[in-house]
Parts: sequence; C-alpha cells; structure tokens
Amino acid sequence: MASVLFSPIDLRGLTLPNRIAVSPMCQYSAADGSATDWHLAHLGQLSMSGAGLLISEAIAVERRGRITHGCLGLYSDDNEDALARVIAFCNRHGQTPFGVQLAHSGRKGSVHHPWNGGKGLAPDEDPWETISSTTEGYDDWPAPKMADAAELARLKDAFVQATARSDRLGVELIEFHNAHGYLGNVFLSPLVNNRNDRYGGSFENRIRFPLETFEAMRKAWPADKPMGVRIPGSDWVEDGGWNVEDAVKYAGALKEAGADYVVVSSGGVVPQQRIKVGPSYQVGFAAEVKARTGITTMAVGMITEPKQAEEIIESGKADMVALARSFLYNPRWAWHAAEALGAETPYYPPQYLRAKPETWPHVFPGRARK
Ligand SMILES: Cc1cc2nc3c(=O)[nH]c(=O)nc-3n(C[C@H](O)[C@H](O)[C@H](O)COP(=O)(O)O)c2cc1C
Repeated sequence: MASVLFSPIDLRGLTLPNRIAVSPMCQYSAADGSATDWHLAHLGQLSMSGAGLLISEAIAVERRGRITHGCLGLYSDDNEDALARVIAFCNRHGQTPFGVQLAHSGRKGSVHHPWNGGKGLAPDEDPWETISSTTEGYDDWPAPKMADAAELARLKDAFVQATARSDRLGVELIEFHNAHGYLGNVFLSPLVNNRNDRYGGSFENRIRFPLETFEAMRKAWPADKPMGVRIPGSDWVEDGGWNVEDAVKYAGALKEAGADYVVVSSGGVVPQQRIKVGPSYQVGFAAEVKARTGITTMAVGMITEPKQAEEIIESGKADMVALARSFLYNPRWAWHAAEALGAETPYYPPQYLRAKPETWPHVFPGRARK
C-alpha cells in the first residue's frame, strides 16, 4: 500500500509534497536578530532534505521578544536582508517550502544561550526589560513588565509588521508561536494569567490577545498563503492548568478565524510542570483536537521512526508530523523514511543523485535503477 506519510497535502494555496515538517529549532546563532552563515548552512541543508515543509526557528517580532542575544529576529531592515540571503539559497538549491515561526519570548527572554547556562543576563551583558501578561518572573529569570493596553497594541503591531516582512521575503507559510511558555502561551494559561482586564480571567478573556493578534496577522498575510498556530495541549500540572479541553476550544476559535492548521505541543509555562515524555507523547493532544474540531493538525514530540510517523497519519490521529531532533541527528531522515516505507524517494539535489539507493546496487542490491 502506498505510504500516506509521503502523500501530498494542501494547506490553503500551498501544496506540500509530503506530510513531514522540520519543526522550528532555535539556533542561538544570530547577530542582533540577523541570520548568519550558520543559518545558511543549517537551513540550507534542511531545505534539500526531502521534508515536505521547513519551518524556521522562532523569529522574534521585536528586539525584546528574543530569548537570547543569539535569537533570530524580523524587526529591522538588516534582519530582513540577512534572512533574504538564506531564503534565496534555500529556494535556489532546495525544494522544501520555507515557513517562518513568528514569536515573542515574553517573560522568557534576556537570558544566556542554553549552552551557557540559560540564566538571566547580568547588568553588563546588555539585558533588556521583558514584557508579559504578568509581573511574575519565570523561576529565577528576570521579572517582566506587565503589558498595558498601549503595549498590547504595540505588540500586536510588531506581529503584523513581521508578517508583512515575511511576505516581502517570499515566505510561504507562517506559524504563530503560542506554546512553550512564551508570550502567547502566558496569556492562555490560567496558572500565569492573573490579569483583571479583558485579557485575563475567563477562558474567553485569556485567548483574546493571541486570537486578536492572529486575526491581525491573518489580515496582513495574502489570502492564498497558509498560517498555522503552535498551541499548547497541557501545562502538565496536577490541578488548574491549561488542558486538552482548552486546546480543543482554542483550536476551534482559531479555525473560525482562518487558521489552516494547529500543531499541538506543550510545556514551558511553569517550572513545577511534570511532563511525561516518551514516544508520541503529544500525539494524543493532536488527535483529540483533530477529531473534535476538524482542523488540519500536526503532531510533534518524540516522533522518530518512519513506521511511527506513518501510523500517526494512517490512523487519522494527525494530518502531518513535525520532527525536530531527528533532523539534527539525521538531516536525511526523510530519504531514509521513504526507503523504509517503500515510498518514492523525495527530492534529491542533483549534486547528490549518485547516493540514491537505486544507483548504488553494490550497497542496495535489491533496488532496480528507475
Ligand atoms: C534545539 C531545539 C530548538 C528548539 N526551538 C524551538 C523553537 O524555536 N520553536 C518551537 O516552537 N519549538 C522549538 N523546539 C521544540 C521542537 O520544535 C519540538 O517541538 C520538540 O523538540 C519535540 O520534537 P522532537 O522530539 O522531534 O525533537 C526546539 C527544540 C530543539 C531540540
């Protein structure tokens, strides 16, 4: 039977050649938000990986929306020019549609690179004041300023401006980041959002800021280009946190507002979370959201094996899978998955054609030349 993982899927006006997405992965290698040669090499190789979709790391829509000094941004003309160079390379040498994840770190910013400990920047390390829905800091990270009405308008506008820049860059898809404890997620979570205005308290109030921001971005994005949202499936606390029921309701509201897909992730809101990590550990969230809202759904988290990915799609638990660490470990994951599932091999750049199994009979004796 033909592989469903390697069947195409339409997201609005964009047809993806298969259902494998490279999940966003921060590289902490930018210079004041601008992409560097690292991004050229990293995203460049992934653009020729045979994946059906390549989504950039979280890109901060304003300078203080970065996590570290090394995070990518799209808040200046320099940022835009630097990313244009990377995208031009990917489009010239690769074939995977290029999407960006637009994000704001909220209260999880102004910190060191993770490999330098990830703690708050010292006064002589050019720290910045973070902004969030609350004045409470995450763990011992810097405490944020609470966003007032004027700040909320500014933040929304920053997302709209970055959306317009993404369109100018020829980006084909936007993913709006509402998970992992960053700005959007902190509005959503009842554990952290203790505002007493129309953006806090009830479920409807807590989803209002991210939903309004999504609507404003959607208006600024061409009607034929897809836009999705990374939403949380759980806060992973015993009592009182965001849960899959909330994810279903929020996904329904996003669908109505014109979202083309949701990718259901989780965690990162409060340090006392207890995540039960294991193979496919977040797939159940995606399945629930898909079954109850009908929105196109991407599953993410510890999906590492071709048969596992195939089963997730084939059983209807999700429409796509997003893989992160598997693509760092093996940028050719999609080639190997196609081989394992007996599917037509996805894109090979012509420079690499001599490594196609059917052209290499002494290593792959059963494979005929096509
Ligand atoms: C190095 C690294 C950086 C990440 N950066 C981001 C990011 O920028 N945005 C995001 O939504 N998730 C980010 N993630 C989470 C991944 O996209 C993914 O959800 C998570 O790693 C689980 O998938 P996996 O088991 O396939 O790695 C990152 C993960 C890794 C390993």
